[in-house]
Amino acid sequence: MDLSVTSLLYFGALLYVVVQLVRFVCADVDFTLQWAAAFGNKPEIKLRRKVVWITGASSGIGEELAYQLARLGARLILSARREKELERVKHCCLSCSSLQEEDILVLPLDLLERDSHEAKMKSAIEHFGSIDVLINNGGRSQRSLFLETSMEVYEALMELNYLGTVSLTKQVLPHMTQRGTGAVATVSSVVGLAGAPLATGYSASKHALQGFFNSLRTELTEYPGITISTVCPGPVQSQVVHNAFTEQLGKPIPAAGDQEHKMPTARCAHLILVGIANRVKEMWIANQPFLCMYYVWQYMPTVAWYLTDLLGRRRVQNFKAGLDADAAYFTRAKAS
Ligand SMILES: NC(=O)c1ccc[n+]([C@@H]2O[C@H](COP(=O)([O-])OP(=O)(O)OC[C@H]3O[C@@H](n4cnc5c(N)ncnc54)[C@H](OP(=O)(O)O)[C@@H]3O)[C@@H](O)[C@H]2O)c1
Repeated sequence: MDLSVTSLLYFGALLYVVVQLVRFVCADVDFTLQWAAAFGNKPEIKLRRKVVWITGASSGIGEELAYQLARLGARLILSARREKELERVKHCCLSCSSLQEEDILVLPLDLLERDSHEAKMKSAIEHFGSIDVLINNGGRSQRSLFLETSMEVYEALMELNYLGTVSLTKQVLPHMTQRGTGAVATVSSVVGLAGAPLATGYSASKHALQGFFNSLRTELTEYPGITISTVCPGPVQSQVVHNAFTEQLGKPIPAAGDQEHKMPTARCAHLILVGIANRVKEMWIANQPFLCMYYVWQYMPTVAWYLTDLLGRRRVQNFKAGLDADAAYFTRAKAS
């Protein structure tokens, strides 16, 4: 090999590394999902006319998923507790798409009322005959310090985010195994992979979901037509902070804070649909610098501990000073 060929190879390798670095710096998703978005199946082809059941469809990410799915022609089952909000979402879905009244079923459901889930499943099947995709999205977050938080809050977080989700999945999955096809996508969180102060119970409930669905996926290897996906978003614009648990059940968040710095809901919903259309098993969705932290957690845990302690201390200080915990990464506590 003469010198010029070697130099060309070095230059090519360097260029490749630079391109990947630029892609990473500009990215808001992990490499697999980025690849799927660029070259994979289009949601409008894969999800058209599919029956998709969305929990937590009355606001935030679930509501936006409903609009995008309606526009691409999927048939919908909309679930959450507030029926009036679900009817509003249905109305918006109908006006932004060519779907007909019977293509959208409003099915109010409380994830905490596990005894009701079998009947809800029956109603869904009666209406559509089948369910192609279940998106386990309903859930609530937490903003409180462990030392100040009652055990009831920890129970509620596990009951809702973990057991409620497992219960509904238990109703839907046998139907999918019978047909040999289907997808279950569960919205976890970045704190389902890592840890964050003020969210001990929330993080635990999302870790539980990750462990559960990672194990379930391997139990279903005999069903290659069934996909189990977990979605791990970072901060996304929604009502999640407003609705978060605090130290005591029923105590509201004083102020939800600014949402500006978070990922737009529409972008997050679009990426989730790309992931489902491409049968992606785990999706990391976050703006930088949050996305970078997923990689650090995954591949350099010692560095991750150091950074998390550093940022976590700031988050706790700001929370104690009455600032919004999410924005607190970018602001300093005011001296009293
Ligand atoms: N936004 C973020 O920054 C972020 C980041 C990571 C993960 N996530 C996850 O994304 C999912 C969606 O949250 P979001 O951000 O869209 O927040 P959101 O706007 O507060 O939406 C939460 C949804 O969950 C439903 N829900 C709450 N309690 C329920 C219950 N007991 N039974 C049935 N549904 C219930 C709510 O509807 P009703 O009140 O009508 O029941 C609402 O539709 C959650 O699992 C959350 O943990 C969000």
